[in-house]
Amino acid sequence: MCGIVGAVAERPVNKILVEGLKRLEYRGYDSAGVALLDGNTLNTVKAVGKVVNLENALDEAGVKGTTGIAHTRWATHGGVTKANAHPHISNSEIALVHNGIIENHASLREALKGDGYEFLSDTDTEVMVHLIHQLRQQHTTLLASVQAAVKQFDGAFGTVVFDKANDNEIIVARSGSPLVIGLGLGENFIASDQLALLPVTRTFIYLEEGDVARITRNSVEIFDVDGNAVKREVIESNITQDASGKGEYRHYMLKEIYEQPLAVRNTLEGRLNDDRVAIDAFGDSAQQIFKDVKHVQIIACGTSYHSGMVARYWLEQFAGVSCNVEIASEFRYRQSFVHENSLLVTISQSGETADTLAALRLAKQQGYMASMTICNVPGSSLVRESDLAFMTKAGAEIGVASTKAFTTQLVGLLMLTASIAQEKGLDQGTIVNAIKLLPAKLEETLLLADGIADLAEEFADKHHSLFLGRGSQYPIAMEGALKLKEISYIHAEAYAAGELKHGPLALIDADMPIIVVAPNNELLEKLKSNVEEVRARGGIIYVFADKDSHFESDDTMRVINVNHVDDVIAPVVYTLPLQLLSYYVAVIKGTDVDQPRNLAKSVTVE
Ligand code: F6R
Repeated sequence: MCGIVGAVAERPVNKILVEGLKRLEYRGYDSAGVALLDGNTLNTVKAVGKVVNLENALDEAGVKGTTGIAHTRWATHGGVTKANAHPHISNSEIALVHNGIIENHASLREALKGDGYEFLSDTDTEVMVHLIHQLRQQHTTLLASVQAAVKQFDGAFGTVVFDKANDNEIIVARSGSPLVIGLGLGENFIASDQLALLPVTRTFIYLEEGDVARITRNSVEIFDVDGNAVKREVIESNITQDASGKGEYRHYMLKEIYEQPLAVRNTLEGRLNDDRVAIDAFGDSAQQIFKDVKHVQIIACGTSYHSGMVARYWLEQFAGVSCNVEIASEFRYRQSFVHENSLLVTISQSGETADTLAALRLAKQQGYMASMTICNVPGSSLVRESDLAFMTKAGAEIGVASTKAFTTQLVGLLMLTASIAQEKGLDQGTIVNAIKLLPAKLEETLLLADGIADLAEEFADKHHSLFLGRGSQYPIAMEGALKLKEISYIHAEAYAAGELKHGPLALIDADMPIIVVAPNNELLEKLKSNVEEVRARGGIIYVFADKDSHFESDDTMRVINVNHVDDVIAPVVYTLPLQLLSYYVAVIKGTDVDQPRNLAKSVTVE
């Protein structure tokens, strides 16, 4: 989603800003812009499309500056146009970029128009810059003007502002949309994600909700929501820079699919002692909470929601606790029932997903015994606002379609299941012994890539597809369908195979490929009957099956054999062939694999 980079320095910052935006490209966007201050001269350059268009426009304009703010926009209010791209400017004096949504923009716009402000865009953001300009006439400093303005904004924002009268100052404010300050020597930076700033610094300060900060070349002053000066923790980033390079791979998504054995290994490292899970991987107070917990409520969105759905099977089967799983955008807008001794678990790659964060904040007022997040980004909002956190160690995930974050979430959820079982005196050894084998099993499964690439040819001209699974493989079928639709744009639906005859069978014909996930477990015979129902109606079937499942390839069925794995880890293992299938279909179709149309990586607006 939208990205922000800003700098206040002695040296020209054009290249730093453009490089920062490029490093945020993975988040998804449709236009970009930059405002630069060269002394007291303010220049703005914008372009629709990729950051490289902005880079070319900047070169052509020949402008530079030592203070600047830059933005990639993912359209919410107003179409994809240069006029709607940020930065927005008020009266040729104040420049502003914004991530998030100002919900009361319509009333603010009317009031500002009444006061003579002229609007040049259709965005909700433009009201911010005009309001700050108006308040600037009443306050002696830009800081005070921004502090006064933020009190009038309803909604979410991470915003960065400067006034052309002072090229040694940018003011930043955070409410609902993350911002991180990067500290340099005689220069300082701001960004919506530390990845943007890794070429210039590794020392960061995360702003907290309600913070407003004044950043100059040599100082950073932070004020909390009540205007009190506060100190926030300074952290050293341990993200490796090459995480944002593709290496030998054609796409980030492929690289990230292949990184899964290592990502799982890293997620397990130091967290298993013999056949037990080291419970402190979840946080200091986890042990008592796991002893007392009777119910788990999981909340997440998209792919992360699918990992939660798998966990429901595990938690109820192995840990003896009941479990509900709900999409965050539904949970946050309904009155739900809080069970006794209920643990709230959010799952998120980014830790910044607006709906998941809002659901956590709501749940914290509802009487859960504790909140826990399973998350991939240290220091993210979900991690900071939850009582317990289990960090997946997938490393930076750049491809918009989530892959290694999903499999490491599953590992975290298996470890949660084993930990609760352990504290309740139930068998956890089966899970732990199976998890230890996972990295090697994933490596073996990746060897199927060539066969899957061949299979993908058969999907390239298809418009619809159906994914089937049973038990804990049903959410894996859902995840497979999501991957295929988001990167290849082929319509894909997933069904619990037993549901077929209740409606979807009507869709079956030779143009609708059916993808079946078939490990060798107690549901195999049931699944085989479902497959026969499809065959009898002329469907073409692609089965990812355990070697011992005895499916045979023929005219209407293509079988890809997966090595046998213990059923408890099978959902993790069977995810990989489905990821590879989506990837190769997308490559054949020539879509933008890493940045599929209309999608954003970190969904920081609701
Ligand atoms: C799909 C995908 C999304 C995310 C969803 C939640 O490949 O990546 O469905 O899973 O937007 O994001 P996080 O996990 O960051 O909360």
